[in-house]
Order: sequence, then C-alpha cells, then structure tokens
Amino acid sequence: MSLKTFIVLLGPPGAGKGTQAQVISEKLKLPHISSGDIFRENLKGQTELGKLAKGYMDKGELVPDDVTISMIRDRLSRSDCSTGALLDGFPRTPTQAEALASLLSSLDGSVKAVPYINVPEHILIERLTGRWTCRSCGQVYHEKFNPSKVQGKCDFCAGELYQRDDDKAETVTRRIHVYLEQTQPLIDFYQQRGVLLEVDGTLSIEQVSVDLLTALS
Ligand code: AP5
Ligand code: MG
Repeated sequence: MSLKTFIVLLGPPGAGKGTQAQVISEKLKLPHISSGDIFRENLKGQTELGKLAKGYMDKGELVPDDVTISMIRDRLSRSDCSTGALLDGFPRTPTQAEALASLLSSLDGSVKAVPYINVPEHILIERLTGRWTCRSCGQVYHEKFNPSKVQGKCDFCAGELYQRDDDKAETVTRRIHVYLEQTQPLIDFYQQRGVLLEVDGTLSIEQVSVDLLTALS
C-alpha cells in the first residue's frame, strides 16, 4: 500500500478546477499544484520555460509532454509534497498520466482519487470569458457568478484583477477542442483504474465543493 495521497482534479477548461482546488487543498491539507499556474509564474518571471510555454498557451495548445512532465517531477520532489498533493491541470494526456503513475510509484505514492468536474461546453465559454484573476495572489473571480467586492480589486490582497490572455473567445474554443481530443481519454483511463469520481460542475460553487468533499470522504 502506497503511503502518499495524490488527487488529480480532472475537467475541461473553466470547469472550476482552480476554484475547487483551493477548498479541497485546505480541507485535506495537501499542496495545490496547478501546471497552468506554474507556467504563468514562469511567464511572469521571464524564464526560458515561461517563454517556451507562452507560445503554446497563447494558441490554446498544450505545452509538449517532456517539458511538462519534467516540470512536475521537479515540483513533486519538494518537501511540501511529503504526504502527497492535489494536482490541477496535470496530467492532461495519456503520456502524462503514464509518466505520473511511474513517478509516483518511485515516490511511494499513487493516484488515490480523480474527481472529474463535468460541465458542458456552452457553460464553459461564459465562465472563461467572464473570469478575472488576481495578478498578485492568483485568486479567481467571475464578473457574474463570483464577483469581487470592489470591481477590479482582489478581496484578499487588494491586488489588481486581470483577464488571462488565453480567455479570449477564439482561444477558449481552441482550448476546449484540445481538451476533447487530448485530455478526455483520461476519463476512461482513470475509470478503468477504479479511481474516477464524477461530480456535476454546473451547480453553485458551494454545492460543487460539498459534493467533491463528500465524494472524497
Ligand atoms: P490551465 O491554467 O490549467 O487552464 P485550464 O485547464 O484550461 O483550466 P482553467 O484554469 O481555465 O479553468 P479551471 O477549471 O481552473 O476553472 P476556474 O476555477 O478558474 O492551463 C492553461 C494552459 O497552460 C493550457 O492551455 C496549456 O497551454 C498549458 N498547460 C497547463 N497544464 C498543462 C499540461 N499538463 N500539459 C500541457 N500544457 C499544459 O473557474 C473558471 C471561471 O468559472 C471562474 O471565473 C470561476 O469564478 C467560475 N466558476 C467556477 N466554478 C463555478 C460554478 N460552479 N458556477 C459558476 N461559476 C463558476
Ligand atoms: Mg485553473
């Protein structure tokens, strides 16, 4: 029996993975590791990884598997992952899922649960084009479904809110297609391994949190 608990949040762009990861990571005391957030931090810091990732992210395409897998391998080797982690946005291809399984077995861990937040396509577009993110702390808002108290300012750190470059309507459409082609096969992959937990992601943010925590308990 492996000792470390890894949870993989699965769902299309805009399903609410980042929003729910915050709640789950706090409750289960697991670090929240978002591959998209790591790429965006690298972009902000103008690193070579950030510059490489930007070309793919701006087009709504996936960053190549070898680059992404090596980035996650480094991240999971840090001491805060000593009891496991909550992964958001990784794995995203069957190759990444296989690489994660072998990496975790070498770390004495395994994927214990894969909550899949199911949201149909027409809802995703409205969620993504109305999303605002804090430039300093990364907190996510929605202009209609989850607005900040003061327009344009983060409730928690008063940082400036911005719209992600890849949340333009045409890029969103491409991201959803890439998800359907490359990431959707992971639903079967994890179902076959008996760890998939599907929740209805069209409900309110609070209800989805309750359903996810119940499914994970
Ligand atoms: P990434 O940052 O991972 O983006 P994503 O998977 O497309 O997902 P999002 O962050 O857009 O959505 P989310 O599910 O987190 O939703 P959120 O909680 O914000 O990846 C970006 C790019 O990086 C990729 O396109 C790729 O280029 C690259 N990349 C990343 N990982 C990679 C990998 N493994 N391999 C290769 N490339 C990779 O919510 C969305 C909005 O909806 C918010 O406004 C929120 O307030 C609102 N909302 C949330 N829940 C609800 C609800 N229940 N009701 C109403 N509104 C809600
Ligand atoms: Mg996210």
